[in-house]
Amino acid sequence: MARGRFDNPVVAALAGVKDFFSGQPLSERLHDTDSFEGKTVLITGANSGLGYGIALEAARRRARVIMAGRSGIPEKGKMIADKSGSDRVEMRYLDLSKIETIYDFVDGLSKDGITPDVTILNAGVALPFARKTESGIEEMFLVNYLSNVILTNLMIQSGVVPLNRDEGEPKPRILFISSDSHQGSSAIDYDEFGVFQSYGPSKGISNYSYFKLVLNTYAVELSRRVNRGQVRVGINAICPGPVHSEIIKEAPGVLYYTLKGIFRLVFRSPEKAALPVIYMAVSDDYEGKTEEYLHMFRHKRMDEKCYDVAEGKKLWEASGRLWRSVDPKASMIG
Ligand SMILES: NC(=O)c1ccc[n+]([C@@H]2O[C@H](COP(=O)([O-])OP(=O)(O)OC[C@H]3O[C@@H](n4cnc5c(N)ncnc54)[C@H](OP(=O)(O)O)[C@@H]3O)[C@@H](O)[C@H]2O)c1
Repeated sequence: MARGRFDNPVVAALAGVKDFFSGQPLSERLHDTDSFEGKTVLITGANSGLGYGIALEAARRRARVIMAGRSGIPEKGKMIADKSGSDRVEMRYLDLSKIETIYDFVDGLSKDGITPDVTILNAGVALPFARKTESGIEEMFLVNYLSNVILTNLMIQSGVVPLNRDEGEPKPRILFISSDSHQGSSAIDYDEFGVFQSYGPSKGISNYSYFKLVLNTYAVELSRRVNRGQVRVGINAICPGPVHSEIIKEAPGVLYYTLKGIFRLVFRSPEKAALPVIYMAVSDDYEGKTEEYLHMFRHKRMDEKCYDVAEGKKLWEASGRLWRSVDPKASMIG
């Protein structure tokens, strides 16, 4: 049976406390002058937490910002516009637990001629109990993993993420928001891949970190398939470290208040946690770079399993099969 690094949400949160005190060698590489001028940045789950922090900083750094989400429309976008002084912030509806909305979202971008220079796949949930979506797939698996597969495939197929930018032009970037808790998760279990299983808070937190391992493995495989011999899209992953966000909002009673206390005391504000993500999104240091991983402002290797070529191929095929099993329109690139 698949398992993540943690099976206790409080221990997982306390591991985040350790990150809080770790060195950040690359923080000086993000400069106040680094700007998204002329660029479009798309962020999923941008109405809250880290995604909101990223949207605000991107708007301050002169990006056209597309905030994708299922709530807070339009007021969260207006808040970002007011705080940043930008008139180039817009919100678009996207519910990653409903596959049909992903098609509508990508169609909308395509019709409006929007080709984001940077796509930040940030939306995520940490559910204490399994929940079945209308597709029959468990919600945390769908939102944190499979919908990102669907979204990236549709964006590339529709040309919303162009693969053939002219020589010398900056390449599009796709950033997967991951978690360093993926390290040490078990190998992907294909017998139970995408199969609905009930869970409670212990298995929930274990699944959360395991799904991030699955996501990172997909990110590396996507990069292999898109970038055959030359980098056409920079596809990277990052753990923002501990963020004082709403991620634990569904934790039950005492657990919620315990975690909230830890978050309040030592986790970083979304605005601060957004900075390494902004660095990876804007810096020339990442031009033409792919399959990189940052843990806050530190370069790291992902869990070694994420780089395994045979594993990447197997995951790609299993993801395609699963998508097709719930959606007749499913089609993976390559
Ligand atoms: N907090 C941490 O310490 C930490 C550490 C490492 C990594 N991360 C990662 O950071 C990312 C952002 O999380 P956060 O901590 O900022 O939590 P958050 O405040 O709960 O933000 C999560 C965002 O995802 C959105 N979302 C959830 N389900 C969705 C759906 N079905 N469709 C579209 N959007 C959906 C939420 O929208 P609603 O407001 O509508 O629910 C919200 O905007 C996640 O990928 C998380 O795994 C967080």
